[in-house]
Amino acid sequence: MIVDRLEFIDSDFKQHTAMANSHDTAIQVAIMDNINANIVCELGAGTGNWSGVVSKNLQNKNTRFVLVENFSQAEMYKDIGFPQDIQELQQNMSQFGTNFDIITSSLEALPELSEKVDVVRIDCDGPGDHYKDFTEWLLRNGSDRLVIFADDIRPNVRPDRLFMLHELVRRGDLEFLWGGYEEAAWCRPGAVDKIALVKDIQETYDHYFDFIHHAYHDNFFDSTMSYIVTRPKWIIHAPGL
Ligand SMILES: C[S@@+](CC[C@H](N)C(=O)[O-])C[C@H]1O[C@@H](n2cnc3c(N)ncnc32)[C@H](O)[C@@H]1O
Repeated sequence: MIVDRLEFIDSDFKQHTAMANSHDTAIQVAIMDNINANIVCELGAGTGNWSGVVSKNLQNKNTRFVLVENFSQAEMYKDIGFPQDIQELQQNMSQFGTNFDIITSSLEALPELSEKVDVVRIDCDGPGDHYKDFTEWLLRNGSDRLVIFADDIRPNVRPDRLFMLHELVRRGDLEFLWGGYEEAAWCRPGAVDKIALVKDIQETYDHYFDFIHHAYHDNFFDSTMSYIVTRPKWIIHAPGL
């Protein structure tokens, strides 16, 4: 059972701007509720607003957030209010009442985490040629019910994230879970009951088209694999699309 959070998330993002859209975030919140996420890690937290807004909208109010941010783009995004240092990020996060820690390491040199995380959202540059060390870090530091979100998954934005995570699908370490408008999710094999999740989404969110697809691309997916996609209805009604 999930709750429709779209209007709340939309209004939260109007107040706390993030590089995220409310339609995808609502589905992410539904997925996090489905696995009862206790620890969420955002890689490239920026303002921390995505984590703050998610924490406000999760059913579990005790979820802890680990924000990873190296401030490499702080100057570039100064005009749109990005924190310039850890104190400013802490200050911004204090608005949400979120339980959080900040790690200022780069993606290329992440420390081992004190507790395994249930959710990771990838929303920053790197790790380039060192991606294998990074994916091993994800698998070591993720819990049994690990879900990984990647932002900017469109082929003309960051297809490298898609290809990187699909190497783990081919190895049997992850399965593809969900494709959204700009974000997608992978999970440990069997960690999420997809049929129950898609039923929840269909019952709760009538403003999406939701499907479970079966993939027949043997070189990319296992041919028995199913996954969820969501398209907000406004995409097809938007002028020019
Ligand atoms: C696209 S912005 C993040 C936006 C934020 N997640 C949101 O949804 O609003 C990317 C952020 O990642 C940080 N970043 C870039 N490369 C990084 C790296 N290799 N390690 C850690 N943080 C990084 C940048 O400083 C920037 O704040």
